[in-house]
Amino acid sequence: MTKITDNLRKLKIEEVLPTEVVGIENMKETKSGGSTMSSHRLIHPWFARRPTTATRLAVLSSILPHDYPNEKLLKLMQIGPKRLPEGESLIEYIERKSLTEDERSGTIPEHYGYDYPHNRSPTKEELNELHTILRQHWDGDLPTILDPTSGSGTIPLESLRYGLPTKANELNPVAWLLNKAVLEYPVQAGDVGEQIKNWAEKIDEYASKELKSYFPSDTPDKTPSHYFCTYSIECPSCGSRLPLANKWWFYKQSSGNGHAIKPIIDGKSIDYQYLTEKEANKQGFDPSKGTVDNADAECPTCTVVTEGETIKEKFKNDEFSYEVCGIKYKTGNGSEYRATTQVDRDAFKKAEEHISNNLDYATLLSTSVSDGNKTKELRNYGITQWRDLFSPRQLLSHAVYLQAFEEYKQEIRDQHPTQEAEAIITLLSLAASKLIERNCRAAPLRIDRGYAANMFGTNNFAFQWTFAESNMTSGSLSYISAVDDVVDNYGEIVDYLSEVKSTEVSVSQGDAASLNYPDESVDAVVVDPPYGNNVMYAELSDAFYVWLKEYLQDTFPNEFSIETTNKSDEAVENIGLVKNSNHDGSKQSIARQRYEDKMSDIFSGCFDVLQPGGILTVYFTDKEAGAWDALTMSLINSGFLISATHTVTSEKLARIGMRDVNSADSTLLIACRKPTSGKTVRNETASLWSDVKNSTQKVAKEKANELLQSSVNISKTDIIIGAFGPTLRVFTEKYPVVDVHDNPIRPKQALEQARAAVTEVLIEQELGDSLSSVDSLTKWYILMWLIYERSTVPYDDANQLGIGVGVQIDDIKRDTKIWSKSKAKLILQGQSDRVRDYTALESGEKRRKRAYPLDPRDESYQYSIDSVHAALNVLETKGSDYAWNWLNERGLQDDTRFIQTVSSLLKVLPKSYEDYDALVNLVSGDTGQLLGINVEEFIKNDDENDEETTLDDF
Ligand SMILES: C[S@@+](CC[C@H](N)C(=O)[O-])C[C@H]1O[C@@H](n2cnc3c(N)ncnc32)[C@H](O)[C@@H]1O
Ligand SMILES: [Zn+2]
Repeated sequence: MTKITDNLRKLKIEEVLPTEVVGIENMKETKSGGSTMSSHRLIHPWFARRPTTATRLAVLSSILPHDYPNEKLLKLMQIGPKRLPEGESLIEYIERKSLTEDERSGTIPEHYGYDYPHNRSPTKEELNELHTILRQHWDGDLPTILDPTSGSGTIPLESLRYGLPTKANELNPVAWLLNKAVLEYPVQAGDVGEQIKNWAEKIDEYASKELKSYFPSDTPDKTPSHYFCTYSIECPSCGSRLPLANKWWFYKQSSGNGHAIKPIIDGKSIDYQYLTEKEANKQGFDPSKGTVDNADAECPTCTVVTEGETIKEKFKNDEFSYEVCGIKYKTGNGSEYRATTQVDRDAFKKAEEHISNNLDYATLLSTSVSDGNKTKELRNYGITQWRDLFSPRQLLSHAVYLQAFEEYKQEIRDQHPTQEAEAIITLLSLAASKLIERNCRAAPLRIDRGYAANMFGTNNFAFQWTFAESNMTSGSLSYISAVDDVVDNYGEIVDYLSEVKSTEVSVSQGDAASLNYPDESVDAVVVDPPYGNNVMYAELSDAFYVWLKEYLQDTFPNEFSIETTNKSDEAVENIGLVKNSNHDGSKQSIARQRYEDKMSDIFSGCFDVLQPGGILTVYFTDKEAGAWDALTMSLINSGFLISATHTVTSEKLARIGMRDVNSADSTLLIACRKPTSGKTVRNETASLWSDVKNSTQKVAKEKANELLQSSVNISKTDIIIGAFGPTLRVFTEKYPVVDVHDNPIRPKQALEQARAAVTEVLIEQELGDSLSSVDSLTKWYILMWLIYERSTVPYDDANQLGIGVGVQIDDIKRDTKIWSKSKAKLILQGQSDRVRDYTALESGEKRRKRAYPLDPRDESYQYSIDSVHAALNVLETKGSDYAWNWLNERGLQDDTRFIQTVSSLLKVLPKSYEDYDALVNLVSGDTGQLLGINVEEFIKNDDENDEETTLDDF
């Protein structure tokens, strides 16, 4: 029988991909503290952005023919040096570089011998060759790529960089605007950097004049750049002023160089004193202790604690004052700090009065803060209108820059061609909006810098007890510096896209569930959808939206017509939108259902716009891996056939057995196809689960073996996820599937089968039949290490594995303490967590049994892993001779289960894990002889292939 997928155009994503190398590149890009971020990310903040290399892989492998070689693909992705050392493949080269990355002397690009891929674009020749291949594979035309939820434009930017017809759609006007800035303007308006800078200077000059008196400076060569601010309330107990800072450091990078502010309270007023760290020490003043602790505040005058709830009430009723306590100055050769004087505080007061007396400002941003969960904390502290997010002087600063921009807007329009003027106006607005995130009350003070950090560092709004106002006319967070930043990064994108000027790009704003493209007009959809309640894009983005609306409503009347961003069409699990729970379920489950329905609608929309035989590649991160069932169900319901799955783990390679014990981020790719017939004809009669189960196991095993053979360094979890692809392919082809009682089978059940089947393959390959006689709990423990190679594992995965070997992990947790829980993660425990310490027992110290379930004096143990942990503890605490006797008395040398457990653990425990060394000791020397285990067999030689090449070699 031919399968529905047999006549589909074969695509690269359905083959083995070079995911490890891409993972290494992702790691370089995402873990380097932002210094190497792709330029489009630096134009304006957006939430949830994906690394360039994984995106490039998703885009290119979705359209390239299946037999396009991996090395060539990597080169096309701009990964690798100009020339390779003789006899080494590109993949080998990069793996070797990754293994030695930590020992490098120069920068990362120097070590690897090439710049970050996101800074590199394909050459003209590469583009020509690629386009020829693509045209051949796609019936003469270049395939059109669509990203229906494009966020800040990462996916379409990569598609455009490769000269492909690109469509980007986004619901949120802020993100939509970013797409225009990084996709449309660079190819349509070109480099308008100089023009932007010219206008920005005029705007800045105008605004600086207006704002000058609000930022007084001591002498002309000293300009205030940042102010340390907090709040005060009247102490309900003694009536004196109670300042509300949770710390008094303004700046402190390392020990000894701190600058602090100390409040001097005198009844109804507070003065401030500047102290260096030394002076603070001398006075016995600890600036890391503020008056506020855990949202409650202790009055320095009467020591009575005012509860958080009372403080919130005062904020809500406007019964608080701003306290501007310290100033940071920019001087000719650095920074200086001091406490504020009456002059400084008067300037702030003047701004406060100006804001409330000037009619232009009195209603600015009086839009209500939406009542979602993310903004709850703001509302709790009385921030109910968006203007409240700013201190009066912050609001005035932003408002004056807006006014200055308005002064010149018409001139910009008059002096430039339409598209160019629009680009200039938009990029100037984005620069101003970018500053919002650093100059508002919700931006935390960055003590190691002495100025404000990003408000959205954690994709959240959090009330801040201290914050930093910045002088936008000068210094590191000035208007001009923001404009320069935007211009520089925009310029880089223009360069990236210099070869693709003529390419058609279209950016649209709207709901992905009702896309405005003709049916069958797109060849590939690459989508990074919002996931569950992970990020509340709309709620967060309102902080930018309300300002951008002021800047751009006349330029984009449609997109900026609504008061605040569209929450009701957003595909997120938003409990705030569920008004009532009904008898069918909790608000949570209603929000969940709403989200899933929305995703199904979005996928159905994608199905319609795709050509018959087209591909949909879904791209999401590992935090959401529990989503497989819901996600695949939505894909199936929308008519797709799932054809492949991959995982790209962002991590540096480690020597075998030395993987980082902390978990790394993964990007998951699911490839789905629209049938060539254009519609999905589902089987009329349901398939029987018992048949489908066998086929899913079979294909999962085949895929696992294929992956094992194709790569040395692939992680076990990557193999499992890789095997989900063919499993889901079988499942979707046979869908609907029912059991003997006619109950529908969900994708989850097929995935469980795949996981179990792959586990069998892995056991076979790594452990042979050496687990044949051990008990289930021990088996589970060993398999956890085998598969995850680290102690911290997602709870759900660990639970699944338990069910597979017959262990209910929740039932054994209390008595065995073999694992502990931390949020949604499970942490495997080692001997020192589980065994009551022998020496401590002997010294009469009471070790609570509940804390340590294993007693090394026991004659026998329930599980093999217990005897091994006890043995390790005895060896560690009492030495080899004692351990020899201990083992001998218990006859453990003749206990197959014990021997199997020790040998298996030696194979699976990471060498960086502390029990590994203890195990090696156990099987060495006299105890090793007694147990008859050959230690040499287990200690792998890590140092092969380790000689270092330098950049000069190329
Ligand atoms: C995970 S983010 C995409 C991030 C993007 N790949 C990047 O790197 O910047 C998902 C996006 O989906 C958007 N979104 C949510 N609901 C949508 C809908 N119904 N239609 C279109 N876009 C939507 C969100 O605004 C968000 O920007
Ligand atoms: Zn008091």
